[in-house]
Amino acid sequence: MTHTPRSVVIQGTGSYTPGDIQTNDDLAKIVDTSDEWIFTRTGIRERRIAEESEQSSDMGATAAAQALERAGVEAADIDLVIVATITPDMPFPSTACLIQTKLGIPNAVCMDIEAACSGFIYILEVAAALLQSGRYRHALVVGTEKLSSILDWEDRTTCVLFGDGAGAAVLGVSETPNVGLLDFKLGADGAKGDVLYMPGGGCAVPATPDSLDRRMHFLKMRGREVFKMAVTVMEKAAKEILEQNGVNSDQLACVIPHQANLRIIELLAARLEIPMDRFYLNLEKYGNTSAASIPIALDEAIQAGRLKSGDLALMVAFGAGLTWGATLVRCP
Ligand code: UT7
Repeated sequence: MTHTPRSVVIQGTGSYTPGDIQTNDDLAKIVDTSDEWIFTRTGIRERRIAEESEQSSDMGATAAAQALERAGVEAADIDLVIVATITPDMPFPSTACLIQTKLGIPNAVCMDIEAACSGFIYILEVAAALLQSGRYRHALVVGTEKLSSILDWEDRTTCVLFGDGAGAAVLGVSETPNVGLLDFKLGADGAKGDVLYMPGGGCAVPATPDSLDRRMHFLKMRGREVFKMAVTVMEKAAKEILEQNGVNSDQLACVIPHQANLRIIELLAARLEIPMDRFYLNLEKYGNTSAASIPIALDEAIQAGRLKSGDLALMVAFGAGLTWGATLVRCP
């Protein structure tokens, strides 16, 4: 069988963030912190917090419905649903199956992939490869997180950093060469898993009164170590993908980085020698939304007119695992 290389393009995007805004001053009433500390150390002013009754699948389905509408693709035309999340509604069934049902997608292959904050780049690569195989026509990729459900609201070193939300994209194939998702550079280093993890909830530490007492069902992080690794791995992934595609950083119209900390992004910008005004930023409003961070920012950047036809953009992320990933996109 002859293989025709196909371009995989983003046909539409959507995003959703909950209405409840939690400011740094609100947090200062819960833990020993201040707007001044949080803003100067992270660049975050506020984040969105989901209702108790609003789950990752609900937020993901809302973002996905918007992406489908903007793509002009019917639910019946989606044959692949991939969700990136570290806060699934439940261990099983997958959040992808829950979103499939909420959107009335009649028949699709549905799966969750877990790569923490790098999750959206990971699912883009998996979906792109499956679309290129010719066995699928349209993929729905969703990054969705209810991180407020795994935060320790007594730990000021973590609870101030994260927020809830979802972003989605519909991917399809195009016969036009050299457009869409041009290339990927993903990686992982499992030996560094203990810098950012949640010990409880899996088979190693199931929920027991003891595991609850020991606060093991909350996210744990050694922030300073994560910070240093984040800059190193994102710089490496970005430089490698630019080099292997013969792209100079000044050819990039827009960089969409994982929105974790403004100081991490500023260091990355300096190392890549890309001016900060070419980075799309929204972490001031949402904090770190893990797997939802890149797709929310991508959707907002597109809606704001930051990505025009022919533009080259770089998306780059890091997260627990450690994992990282970069992708280069040319707007059709
Ligand atoms: O998607 C991946 C997710 N993770 C990340 O992106 C995290 C990357 N790391 C970071 O963003 C930064 O390391 C943090 C924002 C987490 C921390 O900033 P930092 O400049 O590395 O601060 P630090 O951990 O060195 O702490 C400095 C001080 C400490 O006090 P002492 O020991 O100097 O007295 C902390 O106890 O700040 C204290 N501190 C706080 N003070 C007020 C830590 N958290 C807070 C807080 N409010 N919320």
